[in-house]
Order: sequence, then C-alpha cells, then structure tokens
Amino acid sequence: MQSMTDNSSHDGESSPAGNVVEFRRVSYRAPNGQKVLQDMDLAIQGGETLVLLGRSGSGKTTSLKLINRLLQQDAGEVLVEGKPTTQWDLIQLRRRVGYVIQEAGLFPHHTISKNVGVVLRLEKRSRSEIRERTDEMLRLVDLDPAQFGKRYPYQLSGGQRQRVGVARALASDPPILLMDEPFGALDPLSRNELQQQFLRLRDRLQKTIVLVTHDIREALLLGSRIGLMESGTLIGSYTPEQFKVSDDPAVRAYIEAFGGC
Ligand SMILES: Nc1ncnc2c1ncn2[C@@H]1O[C@H](COP(=O)(O)OP(=O)(O)OP(=O)(O)O)[C@@H](O)[C@H]1O
Ligand SMILES: [Mg+2]
Repeated sequence: MQSMTDNSSHDGESSPAGNVVEFRRVSYRAPNGQKVLQDMDLAIQGGETLVLLGRSGSGKTTSLKLINRLLQQDAGEVLVEGKPTTQWDLIQLRRRVGYVIQEAGLFPHHTISKNVGVVLRLEKRSRSEIRERTDEMLRLVDLDPAQFGKRYPYQLSGGQRQRVGVARALASDPPILLMDEPFGALDPLSRNELQQQFLRLRDRLQKTIVLVTHDIREALLLGSRIGLMESGTLIGSYTPEQFKVSDDPAVRAYIEAFGGC
C-alpha cells in the first residue's frame, strides 16, 4: 500500500478516546431459534485493533454484524461511540463503520471502480472527487486503477477481490473498521505482504478496528488485543503477550492446534 493522504478525513473527527464499541450482555438467536451468541461482554477502545479469533461457526461474523446493525441482538446492548446501535440512524451508523465483508462481497455487475466508490456515491460526492478517491484507494491496496478500475469482480483473482473489499471500506474514511477475514483467500506471500501493509496503515490512520480471523499467527501479529470465541461465547480477551502465556484451557488448545506459536 502506498501513501494515504493525511487530509483523508472528511468530517475532521477521529475516534474518541474511551470505548468506541461495547457489547453489554449481548445474546443473539438465528431466525431458526439457534443460539448463536450468549451473554457477550466486550469493550473496544479508540485506536485499538481487537481481533476476534475462533473456529468456524463460533460467532465471529455474527458479532461484527451486530456492530453495524446488519443483525440486531435479542438481549443486551451494543453501543457504538457510547450510543446503542438501536438508537442510531442507520445511515449515520453505517457511515461511521466501514465493513470489509468475508469473501469481499463485491457487487458482481459493477466495475471495480464503481464498487470502491459505492459509499461515496451515496454521500453524493462530486464525480471528480469520487474518481480521485477511488483511484487513490486502489493504489493504496496495490491495484493499478488504469489496469483494474474498469474490470468486473469475476475478472480478478480472489486475493485481488479481497483487496478491493478493503479499498471500498476505507474509501469514506470511517473511524471504525470491521474486517471479516480480510486476507483469508491469499497465498502466504501476498498475505504476509498485505499484513505488513495493514500494520503500517493502521499505525498511520489510528482507526478502531475489529478484525476477524481463525489464524492465530495473524491474530498475534495484527491484534493489540485478542478476543477468543468458542461456541457463541467470548472466552476472554488478551494482549498478544498474555495470550501466549495464558493457562486458560481454551487458549492452550488453540495454541496447540497451531503447533505452538
Ligand atoms: N441465519 C442463520 N440461521 C441459522 N443459523 C445461523 C444463521 N446465521 C448464523 N448461523 C449460525 O450461527 C453460528 C455462528 O455463525 P458465524 O457466521 O457468526 O460464524 P463464524 O465464527 O463467522 O464462522 P466462519 O469462521 O466459518 O466464518 C454458526 O453455527 C451458524 O451456522
Ligand atoms: Mg465468518
């Protein structure tokens, strides 16, 4: 990723200190009645990168979707910037919270440029501003706008599509970013490269990030804190150093499954 302009904040606000996202005894059932999350408590501070780590089906994606109200909890409260999501105007909430969807989730019938600019168009930015910003975001994730901008998602590799997903989520410069396995479909070399770029970008932009992964090494590398999920329950949250030495059986089991770390 190359340089990102420092005037990229459009509302001049940054994430406030204190809890930017908070779960208070949150439970969620799927429409078929299955319990997906139980009594989840979690507080995420401004500027943190909280990694949700857990095996498939443990409730990671569901937790992300409760933050931008793609789903709504059955019990408890989710607060964003101190206000329950149920009290947010949905459009305002989605403007504050960028979302990198698992499997990229691009619109198949839109070009890459149009996909990246989707929120900017909703915000009724001028055409030239949208073009400029879209190109800048594509360059940020190492995709040449001249080469990729006019293509459609099916004309890109899985890893390239994921990068477009990241560019799209960053385009409107939201203070909070939800990233669902953003580097999942990449080969180890590209994955490593993008992780390093992510770290540089994160230090520079100071966003509050909730990132989902099932890869323990990615969690230890990218997280300022790691929340371990199991069967819809948050087992605990740890700094990477605490995680490595924790004697919690669930943590040990995860570390051992990865052959130590
Ligand atoms: N609409 C639904 N109807 C029934 N069950 C659901 C629904 N949505 C999610 N679930 C169930 O909830 C559980 C948690 O799903 P979720 O997508 O949050 O898992 P995840 O941790 O993101 O998994 P993965 O790593 O595979 O993406 C799973 O058992 C899933 O089958
Ligand atoms: Mg998921």
